[in-house]
Amino acid sequence: MTMTERTRASRTLLRGSTWISGFAFLRSWWRAPAAVGLPLTSSPWTARRLAKAVLEAGRSDGPIVELGAGTGAVTGALLALGCLPQDVVVVERDAELCRVLKKRFHGLQVLHGDALHLGGLLRDVGIASVRAVLSGLPMRAIPAELAARCYAQAFELMPDGGAIIQYTYGLRAPVDPTASEHRFKASFVGREWRNFPPMGIWKYRPLQ
Ligand SMILES: C[S@@+](CC[C@H](N)C(=O)[O-])C[C@H]1O[C@@H](n2cnc3c(N)ncnc32)[C@H](O)[C@@H]1O
Repeated sequence: MTMTERTRASRTLLRGSTWISGFAFLRSWWRAPAAVGLPLTSSPWTARRLAKAVLEAGRSDGPIVELGAGTGAVTGALLALGCLPQDVVVVERDAELCRVLKKRFHGLQVLHGDALHLGGLLRDVGIASVRAVLSGLPMRAIPAELAARCYAQAFELMPDGGAIIQYTYGLRAPVDPTASEHRFKASFVGREWRNFPPMGIWKYRPLQ
């Protein structure tokens, strides 16, 4: 097979897998719309910007943890920026999306479970420290106290500092940094307009 034929074949394969994963996303949304959020994947521009933000935010050793990976738009961007599959752990609650992720990214650790119980999920697979967390969880649909507890568990795994990068279609910080006993600092990173709808990116750090 020539180089051009190989490129064409891999493009067809990629287009095929994008369609298949797109259907998987729609099916998941149909089953549980509130849990999945909008059934739209992040655009390539958003995915790349998020991946860069989380890589820059990490301070300690350990994997990058992605919460609510969906069909893997942002996971793919992390790998494209040079992350090895074994340096990324994704947590996804939907079983079908977990299957899509495992099939799409060989060697990636996919944890099927509720990211609101992040500490326990990671402990169960022997992960005691993480570099940074990227969250695509629909936080505005989750009670503030539960969302804050999820963040608190993530920060416990980043004792030397670190951050949570959270994306949202909303205009305000998706997790109120003062809503619970766990206090955080939220800073707005920017809005990616080449996304439908435009995507807000936030960075959270614990208040010292
Ligand atoms: C809006 S989608 C983000 C998809 C993908 N990251 C992207 O940017 O295209 C949100 C994802 O979070 C997952 N999710 C929602 N609540 C969750 C939870 N508590 N634990 C784990 N995954 C969850 C949904 O199943 C869905 O795949």
